[in-house]
Amino acid sequence: MAQEVKGVIARGKGQPVELTTVVVPDPGPGEAVVKIQACGVCHTDLHYREGGINDEFPFLLGHEAAGVVESVGAGVTDLAPGDFVVLNWRAVCGSCRACRRGKPWYCFSTFNAAQPMTLQDGTKLSPALGIGAFAEKTLVHSGQCTKVDPAARAAAVGLLGCGVMAGVGAAINTGGVARGDSVAVIGCGGVGDGAIAGARIVGASKIIAVDTDPRKLEWAKGFGATHTINAREGDVVEAIQELTDGFGADVVIDAVGRPETWKQAFYARDLAGTVVLVGVPTPDMKLEMPLIDFFSRGGSLKSSWYGDCLPTRDFPMLVDLYRQGRFDLDAFVSEEIALEGVEAAFEKMHHGDVLRSVVVF
Ligand SMILES: NC(=O)c1ccc[n+]([C@@H]2O[C@H](COP(=O)([O-])OP(=O)(O)OC[C@H]3O[C@@H](n4cnc5c(N)ncnc54)[C@H](O)[C@@H]3O)[C@@H](O)[C@H]2O)c1
Ligand SMILES: [Zn+2]
Ligand SMILES: [Zn+2]
Repeated sequence: MAQEVKGVIARGKGQPVELTTVVVPDPGPGEAVVKIQACGVCHTDLHYREGGINDEFPFLLGHEAAGVVESVGAGVTDLAPGDFVVLNWRAVCGSCRACRRGKPWYCFSTFNAAQPMTLQDGTKLSPALGIGAFAEKTLVHSGQCTKVDPAARAAAVGLLGCGVMAGVGAAINTGGVARGDSVAVIGCGGVGDGAIAGARIVGASKIIAVDTDPRKLEWAKGFGATHTINAREGDVVEAIQELTDGFGADVVIDAVGRPETWKQAFYARDLAGTVVLVGVPTPDMKLEMPLIDFFSRGGSLKSSWYGDCLPTRDFPMLVDLYRQGRFDLDAFVSEEIALEGVEAAFEKMHHGDVLRSVVVF
């Protein structure tokens, strides 16, 4: 029996989101229905609403979520009703060319639920990142559910489902930050602060936070930044070099994703250092640089999709560190709101007033 639940949808480009009734089918083979306990409001939800991702409206928004499995479909053996899970958008397939070569964090064929969720009139919904968790319940592929310690706070651990994991992973998976490294992070939103927290976890010795907003720099210190640079107050590259004996940082992470921030990352890095692009540029952005600089500075230039995470490996590990007081996930939660508050949360995000607003059910 399909169920009717409340959910937040975006009907059309730029239109305010709407609270409506969503029809959630019973789970089919390989699927699970999850009762959502908490779901963070991410920049990507706003991108969907603005038509910046694709135009497959209406979208069922929300994708940084934790909840409890309500029911599972045929053939699901590793998940049972009652399991506490964080939802992910990388349910690895195990058989695509990336998976076969032992690099499943690049999986090119991730799983989502096969059946659609719909409006009452039968209109199919496109769930954000294949999740759609601004809803009392959602239907996902069972591989999108990662079991974690049920004693953890849902509003905090749900954030591992997207932005915070992307940031942590940009530092520790993609960037390979290691004990003693110097790291600079440009852009200290949820993603950048995740990168700062990740760099601290693995023992980076110097962690330099760069932002244009002094409030963000204050918060960044709480996550582990040892130095801060206000990008409006001078040359970012020189400031990073000054803090690193004139050489530049071993790893620089661009968590903004603009040509000017990427260039800063490129030149603020030591010879043979690493640049990680985790912020997402828009299709119109272009870069023009002397090719010789790429050669003569060496090193590695990488992009980070979802922090190159493997949910089954990384979520439980990070939840353990959180439970032990070694990773302050709570500090990412600026406020808890109701489903009705998503539109207002977009506004606060736009003004930089919050790291994350989290819908709590
Ligand atoms: N790669 C991935 O898998 C992945 C996953 C989630 C989000 N993202 C992307 O990461 C980016 C950051 O996301 P977020 O949630 O942290 O966003 P956010 O808006 O919360 O944070 C961006 C931060 O950058 C700062 N900033 C803006 N321009 C700057 C500049 N020129 N120099 C320095 N700082 C500047 C802002 O003040 C803000 O603090 C977005 O582009 C988002 O789409 C990527
Ligand atoms: Zn695969
Ligand atoms: Zn997100």
